[in-house]
Amino acid sequence: MKNLVVYYSKSGNTKIVAEEISKIAECDLEKIELLDDIGFVHSAFTSLIGCKARIKHLNIDPKEYDNIFIGCPVWAGKSATPMNTFLNNFDFTNKNVFIFITQADSKTPVKVYESISKRVADKGGNVVDMFFVQTNMKSLISSQQAMEAATEWINKLRLK
Ligand SMILES: Cc1cc2nc3c(=O)[nH]c(=O)nc-3n(C[C@H](O)[C@H](O)[C@H](O)COP(=O)(O)O)c2cc1C
Repeated sequence: MKNLVVYYSKSGNTKIVAEEISKIAECDLEKIELLDDIGFVHSAFTSLIGCKARIKHLNIDPKEYDNIFIGCPVWAGKSATPMNTFLNNFDFTNKNVFIFITQADSKTPVKVYESISKRVADKGGNVVDMFFVQTNMKSLISSQQAMEAATEWINKLRLK
């Protein structure tokens, strides 16, 4: 069994959570990166209307993995645009997929879960579980907080 974490992070929170998940669940770690930097307003607006963003090529062979964790920040109540591009391009056939979200809001991001899950399922993936971490736009989440949240989640998953 081989695990992968693939994530997008603009300011670092999702990266910190992704790193903790990759340590706890022994995953390879891949970062989605933008080709051109985008500002706050552009990011929010393009996410709101469901756009994709231009991202760097990712050298991931889906055949290598059984379990794939995907990590995404919420932008304007939606998935961040770089994640939209990844979801559009990746073949999830027969993969177990675990979605993790970071956002400032304390409410469960049901719409974002549903939207990402649908796109994963459309690409053949089996969405197993989802979780989110509330962050704070003024300062980054601590590794300790991310580690505790991720540990609780991963333990619950009983990965096979
Ligand atoms: C453009 C933009 C839009 C955002 N919109 C939302 C939002 O609608 N709801 C929310 O809870 N948080 C929102 N946030 C906060 C981020 O989801 C949160 O800070 C997240 O942890 C950022 O992840 P990152 O540090 O990995 O980039 C927004 C942040 C940015 C940059």
